[in-house]
Amino acid sequence: MDNRPIGVFDSGLGGLTVVKELMRELPNENIVYFGDTARIPYGTRSRDIVTKYSIQCIRFLLSKDIKMAVIACNTVSAGSFDALASKFNIPLIGVIRPGAGAAVEATRNGRIGVIGTSGTIRSKAYPNAIKELNPDILVFDEACTLFVPIVEEGWSDTDVARITAESYLQNIKKQNVDTLVLGCTHYPLLENTIAAVMGPDVKLINPAVYTARQVGRILKDENMMCEEGRQTSVSFYVSDIGQSFQKIGSHFLNQVITAECIDIESY
Ligand code: DGL
Repeated sequence: MDNRPIGVFDSGLGGLTVVKELMRELPNENIVYFGDTARIPYGTRSRDIVTKYSIQCIRFLLSKDIKMAVIACNTVSAGSFDALASKFNIPLIGVIRPGAGAAVEATRNGRIGVIGTSGTIRSKAYPNAIKELNPDILVFDEACTLFVPIVEEGWSDTDVARITAESYLQNIKKQNVDTLVLGCTHYPLLENTIAAVMGPDVKLINPAVYTARQVGRILKDENMMCEEGRQTSVSFYVSDIGQSFQKIGSHFLNQVITAECIDIESY
């Protein structure tokens, strides 16, 4: 048994899509979430800067005595995972492999679409992980850079989101994919819009769901679950207290959340 919290981080509120699945899958676990709202976006930055920021995020979470860190950011998982894994000796869980595995299981026609930030798409982490599992699958990917600011602005269900999605998704749609990986933790907040554009025959994969299951398996295998029947806590920290994190986060998690602001540069 290990009653310490699970640490989770992302560049902003996107990682709350992972928190939501962790809370559903592992209701007895304590969670500490950090959103690097002062330095969002990560997706358009270089790998070195993203790695540097992520090291500070994990150091902050370690100051909260976490037992494992969930990298609730595809950009970080795609480009910086190995660098982080060699630096920290707590279990680190990324979102790429769980998402890739779920997509491989879901596809019937062997044609998978992947959307993400430019950093994630540039890294080719999803096509590589998918092809490792099944080299015959064809992967079509597209960076959708404007999706993150649209979500952070709270515009997920607007005409702006729909027109943007139609434009970004047209190439992938032409490729007749039957499965689409939402390869950025912000994108599940756009799920309705993306589903409407892709149509009912395309299965959308939210890697957060499968990441939460993998966290559960590791905690169980390593005997690191929290004791049952205890009061659990989920706490939120950010590096800049903008309005959108608490407002959109509360709406998305269906509970009022309050975030404490910390100085991430000092970690
Ligand atoms: N939500 C993050 C991801 O999954 C990145 C968003 C950003 O900061 O660009 O890649």
